[in-house]
Formats: sequence, C-alpha cells, structure tokens
Amino acid sequence: MIVAPSFLTADYANLEKEIASVSAASWLHFDVMDGIFVPNRTYDHGMLKMIKNFSNQFFDCHLMIANPGEVIDLYAQSGADLITFHLEAAKNQAHDIIQRIKRLGVKAGLSIKPDTDIETLKPYLDVIDLILIMSVEPGKGGQAFMDSAVGKIRTLFNWRKQGHHYWIEVDGGINLETAKKVRQAGCDIVVAGSFIFNRCDRDRAIQELAHAK
Ligand code: DX5
Ligand code: ZN
Repeated sequence: MIVAPSFLTADYANLEKEIASVSAASWLHFDVMDGIFVPNRTYDHGMLKMIKNFSNQFFDCHLMIANPGEVIDLYAQSGADLITFHLEAAKNQAHDIIQRIKRLGVKAGLSIKPDTDIETLKPYLDVIDLILIMSVEPGKGGQAFMDSAVGKIRTLFNWRKQGHHYWIEVDGGINLETAKKVRQAGCDIVVAGSFIFNRCDRDRAIQELAHAK
C-alpha cells in the first residue's frame, strides 16, 4: 500500500527536519482545518507552499473546510497534486468543484465522514480520482480507528470492479493492525499521523504500514 504520513502531527517548528524524516513515503498528507467544518484550525495553503521547498513527494491535500470551492485555486497554485474535499461541505456543488480541480491539472478526491452513507458517493464514481474514507471523526489526530470504515472500503472495492478507476484511501487511527484490516478490504492508500510521527524510526514505521498484510 501507499503510505501518506499526515503532516498534522508533525513538529511545525522543525519543518525541514520533519519532512526529511518521512522521505521514505512517496505521498504526504496535508490536513487543512478551518475551525468551522471541524472544531480545530490549522495552517493553510501558505504552509503547503513552504513545504514544497523541502519535498518532491506527492501532496495529498485533505480540506476539512466549509467552502472548499472558494480555495481550490490557491491550493493548486501552492503545489497540491491532489485536492480532497468533503461531500458534506460541498452541498450540491460537488460535481462543479471536481471539474474545476481537474481543469487545474490536479487530481480530485472526495471524502465522507464516518456517519455519512457510502451511497452518497455513487453519483461521483465515474469522475472522481480518489475516495477518502474517514475512519475517525475529522478534526484531530490520535483517535481510535472506527471499524465501520472497513465495510465502506469493501463496498468501494466491489463497486470499482464495475469499471471505475478511483483510488481508495483511508484516514484516521491507522496502525499495523488496522492497516492489515483495510488492506484486506481493498484499500490502496493509508494515511497515518501518530503511528509515524510518534516513532523515532519513522522510515521503519512507514515500511511496516506499506507491507502490512
Ligand atoms: C483527522 C485527519 C487525519 C489525522 C490522522 O481529521 O484528517 O489525517 O491527522 O492522524 P492519526 O493517524 O493519528 O489518526
Ligand atoms: Zn486527513
């Protein structure tokens, strides 16, 4: 599996060193929170622009914000390779936002919270590049994995066999045990914050997740 270390848990005071410590991962997961869609507030596209100076990894931006359509140009210009927004925040603009992201030459991702029904994603399966299943309530790192995510991954894996081409990514509470569960269900990419950033040997933590089975 592809491993995307979640930058949320990193030490922002030592950016260059922190990014170097997870260089074994080909992706970097960049959580953005606005204090409205989720209670917490983080950095924004300015931090993304800064980190792009230290990394040529694939930047997977997870926008946990209320009006994603208003900022996708900023994230595209700041170096995002993939922009994922929440269906719950898009209201009836999801198709338009997806098209706009793709027109900017960036991959488009759609995420749903644990309580959102997987069926709500059906209208987008043909146009979306990635689906991000939240296995925790979005808003902070270090939470426990919610097993309800496994059934959603399995459903997406089966739906994809009907001729769709989206990646399946899971985010929240990923460790060795839950990485095995989600891989067996059909997940392609795991996001991990605390499992990686709380370890001294981060390369090893990344390799362990990548080969979990
Ligand atoms: C939560 C974020 C996740 C989180 C993952 O809202 O979207 O990416 O940082 O952190 P862990 O792996 O510690 O659950
Ligand atoms: Zn995330």
